Parts: sequence; C-alpha cells; structure tokens
Amino acid sequence: MHAEIVARLRCPVCRDALSELPGALGCPAGHRFDLARQGYVNLLAGRVPASPDTADMVSARSSVLAAGHFRPVADLVAAAALEVAPQDGFVADVGAGTGYYLAAVLDRLPGHLGLALDVSTPAVRQAVRAHPRAEAVAADTWHGLPLADGCADLLLNVFAPRNGAEFHRVLRPSGGLLVVTPRPDHLAGLEPPVAVDPTKAERLEATLGPWFRLHSATECAYQVSLSRTDAQRLVAMGPSARHEPPDALARRLASLPDPLTATVSVTLSHYAPR
Ligand SMILES: C[S@@+](CC[C@H](N)C(=O)[O-])C[C@H]1O[C@@H](n2cnc3c(N)ncnc32)[C@H](O)[C@@H]1O
Ligand SMILES: [Zn+2]
Repeated sequence: MHAEIVARLRCPVCRDALSELPGALGCPAGHRFDLARQGYVNLLAGRVPASPDTADMVSARSSVLAAGHFRPVADLVAAAALEVAPQDGFVADVGAGTGYYLAAVLDRLPGHLGLALDVSTPAVRQAVRAHPRAEAVAADTWHGLPLADGCADLLLNVFAPRNGAEFHRVLRPSGGLLVVTPRPDHLAGLEPPVAVDPTKAERLEATLGPWFRLHSATECAYQVSLSRTDAQRLVAMGPSARHEPPDALARRLASLPDPLTATVSVTLSHYAPR
C-alpha cells in the first residue's frame, strides 16, 4: 500500500495509527487487518453491515459505468475537484462503489493520492484496481471512518450514505466535500424502480448542515439511450434489485421500450467545513 495512505489510516477498533506489517496492517495495541490478495484491506473489524451492495449489484454498476452513461457526472465532479483542491493532497471517496468517480478525480488531480471506502467487499475489490494512485478499504460509514483527523483535502460522496460528523472530523478545515445526489426526475424513464425521495434536499441539509455550509450547488441533467441490457443493469445496481420481487421486476423491464430514453438528473453540491 502507498505509505502516505497507510499513514492516514486509523485502527477501526482503538483509533490508533496503523502501520504496514508483512501481509497486514496493524496498530500498536495488536489489532491486525490482513491485506487481501487483491490488495485491499478489510477495516470492518468484524461488523456485518446491514445491506452492502452484492457482487451482482457491483458487476451491474461496473458495466453501466463502463458504458459511459454517467461520464458527464464524473466529468463534473472532476472539474469541481480541481477547483476545490488544486494542490497535491489526499482525496477520500466515501461509499465509492467501484471507484469510478475517484478515478475520474485522480485523473484530473495528478498530484493527489486517493482512497476508496465502501462497506461492500465486492465493491472494494473493484475499487482497489480503479486507479494507480488509489487504495481501497472496506469500512462502514456509520461506524466511523478509519481515517485520521483532518487528513483529507477533499471528500467525495456520490449516491452514498453520509455521516456529517465523521466527514467533518476527517476533512482538513480548508478542504471541501463534494456530494452528488439524485434529483426527483433522475432515471424517470425507469420508474418506478429508482424512486427518489422528494425530501432529499432537506435531508441532505439536516445531515450535513450542522457540520458544513453549502458553498455552491450545480444541477446536471441529460438524456441517455439505454439498451434493454443497460436498463436491466441500471435496475440491478439500485435498491429495487433488493426490494422488488424478481419476477415482477422482469415483467416490468420486459414492458419497457428498447432502447429506452432516460434522464440522468443530479445535483453536485460543494460543502465547506464550518
Ligand atoms: C448507489 S452506490 C454508489 C457507489 C458509487 N459512489 C457510484 O456512484 O458508482 C452506494 C454505495 O454505498 C455503499 N454503502 C452503503 N452503505 C454504506 C455504509 N454504511 N458505509 C460505506 N458504504 C456504504 C454501497 O455498498 C454502494 O457501493
Ligand atoms: Zn487498534
């Protein structure tokens, strides 16, 4: 692992510093976390998360992202990252999935190192390969991030859970937090599977408001043409893959036009620590 990234990691059990041992990371108290053969480290500390993305969901996400349907969103995030953190530094993507957005940001920030954090080990296994300047760890955002205070210059959070107190703790005071959230018309062509909570903006403000002030918000909306396979994958990577019975889902998908025009519609919010 990049030594500069290990230096920023903290033991998920006792919060002390971690250092690299043969085949593992360890803290002075003797807590040890094996390096997986794929190169990531599991810092879940034995906690079994409620609903991590499954291997099937991660594989569907990977294909949809590779098809380029979310490229404009990644470009927008990368351009904002360049404004927030133009110098060398460290960027952490919390709820990174396959590391697609982190990789786009690192491509635009050649002096930065990056870390993908996600509760899903299938996701982390992909994310560790996302970029040569990135590492990946399995970690639960709700349990607290396994990162040192003030160690990050930039935090990314794309369609993933937010922990305002922890984001604030690990971000340096002059750093920035970039959050991508779906707008109510996001993927409207695929309704009802990807239902967006209309109160999302208020919830975002409630979770982050005590810790961050909104610096700017940019809306991004465009249309994508989805083959039946892409539409199926888009549904398979989202929450309805869990909630909708498979046969009902299959029937509904079969009734959609092929190709299907859908709207990608998101808000990119740039927050500064209070
Ligand atoms: C909708 S996906 C977004 C992934 C990625 N940011 C992207 O847009 O491609 C949400 C991600 O959050 C992760 N996640 C869910 N709960 C989490 C938690 N408590 N801690 C860390 N990651 C979590 C999931 O495993 C999944 O990879
Ligand atoms: Zn420890």
